[in-house]
Amino acid sequence: MFTDTHCHLFKEYYPDLSLVISNAKNAQVTRFINNGTNLENNQEILELINKEPNMYGAIGIHPEALPNYTEAHLKFIEKNLTNNKVIAIGEIGLDYHYSKEFKEEQLKLFNAQLKLAEKYNLPVIVHSRDATEDTINTLKKYHIRGVIHSFSGSLETANIYLKMGFLLGINGVITFKNANLKDVIKKIPLTSIVLETDSPYLTPEPYRGTLNEPKRIIDIANFICNLYNISLEELSKITNDNIKRIFDI
Ligand code: NI
Repeated sequence: MFTDTHCHLFKEYYPDLSLVISNAKNAQVTRFINNGTNLENNQEILELINKEPNMYGAIGIHPEALPNYTEAHLKFIEKNLTNNKVIAIGEIGLDYHYSKEFKEEQLKLFNAQLKLAEKYNLPVIVHSRDATEDTINTLKKYHIRGVIHSFSGSLETANIYLKMGFLLGINGVITFKNANLKDVIKKIPLTSIVLETDSPYLTPEPYRGTLNEPKRIIDIANFICNLYNISLEELSKITNDNIKRIFDI
């Protein structure tokens, strides 16, 4: 059994969510952590986790949602952190890929959500793109745990995050032909990774170009099993133990 620790399962991408969930189940993917990025999809997550027994929620405001962000959104997040199926604050972080124009606002929002994580003793699911140094320096200010989502950095960066107690979220990027991520991942212990799809994005090879779904966890898992020369059962056990150390599932 596997868990998709990072997906975005919303009606706008998946009109038939029950089919997506049964497809996943048929591929041994039985649990989902649905990650919010803005007020609207955080609200959708709260409805979905109420209905779906094997779906958990990470709620948070993504840096890309800043243009529509108001402080009322943060109050909404805080109000719902005591829901026992909300198991993390995410997807939150820093993204300087397109522009550093809103750097100060991004840092302010990231810090505010990390403070909540500390206050409510919840893990965080962190998005960091072209912002490694600021991400590390910001996370270091708090006593928190969590996952560095879609990790694709160097071995040196991986080791810094591991020393800080974070896990690395590994997705379809590891299967991309030009990615050297597999060389980095081969050198770190399996006790430091969790599997994720980031559905509907980042579909693994050989399915790139199609809509991603949580069922593709099995393709990522098979790829990693080949890399480490272990069985799916072993990988399932290790990654589920890793999840248990970080998340209250
Ligand atoms: Ni994501």
